[in-house]
Amino acid sequence: MMSDKLIIRKLTEEDVEPLSAIESASFSMPWSAEDFAALLTRDYCVYYVAEVDGEVAGCCGMTNICNEGNIDNVVVAEKFRGQGIATALLERLLEEGDSLGVTAYTLEVRVSNASAIHVYEKLGFVSEGIRPNFYEKPTEDANIMWKR
Ligand SMILES: CC(C)(COP(=O)(O)OP(=O)(O)OC[C@H]1O[C@@H](n2cnc3c(N)ncnc32)[C@H](O)[C@@H]1OP(=O)(O)O)[C@@H](O)C(=O)NCCC(=O)NCCS
Repeated sequence: MMSDKLIIRKLTEEDVEPLSAIESASFSMPWSAEDFAALLTRDYCVYYVAEVDGEVAGCCGMTNICNEGNIDNVVVAEKFRGQGIATALLERLLEEGDSLGVTAYTLEVRVSNASAIHVYEKLGFVSEGIRPNFYEKPTEDANIMWKR
């Protein structure tokens, strides 16, 4: 079920604080407001924000290096999960990446993160390997996924 009030748009300075709050509630090693602000100064970083009824609901984005898109953040606030928002964000990101000439996308995800892995597989990502003990707090292997 997708909200009809869902807007997907580029990251702006006003999103930095609400996104860092969503991060803190979602990750054991969250990005700070400064981390999000830094993205705005890097033209090779492409970030999208989801807004529902004017409220920041989540974001996703990538670093584009030599036409390889490294998806380094995907997060949706808990109360907005399960409504197709991460899927919509990633679809928009991949569309933009394709138009910029990105030829392959990659990401890491905790092996236990079934809902995220489900979203990535639905969008065509395939697991190409495991990086042992990649994550901290708690220590966990990373599933390395690619969409080529
Ligand atoms: C992972 C995350 C971004 C997904 O956001 P979302 O907006 O809820 O995602 P969507 O609603 O687009 O899709 C969720 C899908 O996972 C499925 N799902 C939910 N729980 C699941 C589970 N335990 N196992 C498998 N699939 C599951 C849903 O059915 C849905 O699939 P469908 O569209 O085919 O029905 C969100 O849960 C989140 O922010 N988690 C914390 C941060 C995080 O882990 N980020 C990813 C880091 S790599």
